[in-house]
Formats: sequence, C-alpha cells, structure tokens
Amino acid sequence: MEVTRERAWETLTRYTKSEPLRRHALAVEACVGFYAREHDADEELWRAVALLHDFDYEMHPTLDRHPQDGAPILRDEGWPEEVVEAVLSHAEHLELPRDTPLKRTLFACDELAGFVHACGLVRPDGIETLEPKSVKKKLKQPSFAAGVHRDEVYAGAELLGLELDDHIRNVVAAMRPIAPELGLHTG
Ligand SMILES: [Fe+2]
Ligand SMILES: [Fe+2]
Repeated sequence: MEVTRERAWETLTRYTKSEPLRRHALAVEACVGFYAREHDADEELWRAVALLHDFDYEMHPTLDRHPQDGAPILRDEGWPEEVVEAVLSHAEHLELPRDTPLKRTLFACDELAGFVHACGLVRPDGIETLEPKSVKKKLKQPSFAAGVHRDEVYAGAELLGLELDDHIRNVVAAMRPIAPELGLHTG
C-alpha cells in the first residue's frame, strides 16, 4: 500500500468521530510534518503516522488496549510495519525503543501539541501571539490541562536534542496555519 496522509485521514475518520480527537490528530500531524521537512524526511509517511497514532483511542480509550489493540487493525488494513511500529512506539507503557527520528518526533510532539492547543483555547487570539514563556508558565501550573504529562513534554524536547523554548516555538509555528481547523481563534 502506498502510504499517504489522505489514506491515513480516511482510516482515522472511519474509526474516530470525535471532533477533539480529530483535532488532536491534525495538530500532531502539523508538528510532525514540520519536523519531517527539517529532517528532509519522508513527510507523507511522517504525517500518516501522526494522523494514525491515536486512531483507535475512541474504541480503546484505556491503556490496556490503546494503542496495542489498534495495531492488528492497521495491519489488516494493509498499513506497513514501519507505520504500525511507529504508532505503537508513542505509548509510554509499551516501553518500545524510540530508535528512529520519526518515533522520537512523534513522541516529542504528542503531549506538547495537546498542551499548546489547550493554551490557545483560553487566549482571545488563539496561538497567534503565543510565546514559549507563557507556555512554560502554564506547564508549571498543575491544574491547567492537568491531563498533559509534563514529564513527557520535557523528555520529548530532550529526545529531539532541542531547548524546550525552541521546541515550543516550532510546535506553535507548525500549528498556526491550521488554527481555524483546530477550533482556535485567529485574533
Ligand atoms: Fe496515544
Ligand atoms: Fe496523542
């Protein structure tokens, strides 16, 4: 099968009807796509993996099932092992090696994209003028977007070998062009 983001979107939306979950997939896709260009990597593959990483979350919302029970479904649909393995690697509890730039990037973007999204939702201009400084301030407030694992945000930047400020700046820049699709105001 040819791996395309269009095909990944088709699989995602067949299993995922929830708007917030679709938006999360789009946000992570934008960030992973940004880094694919920086790495001169296969952007279509990277985007497809990002779109698919939580494709089974709606039907498997618990860690005893997500994402491991989604993997056989992806294989049945013809997704290559490279895609399935990368999808599986984002889950902390599976403790799989993040031994490729794609796996490291997916992990590094997953929680931070969610957090930046949450920051944008409470600002009148969304993420238009969002600076690393205010993201970091919010990271230190445990009650804000409490579901986002701070340790994974910090570990992700480290895994990419980036300063947290730079990683935040990249993620915000990657998400800005699709702010309307993410339900964010644009000032
Ligand atoms: Fe996940
Ligand atoms: Fe995710």
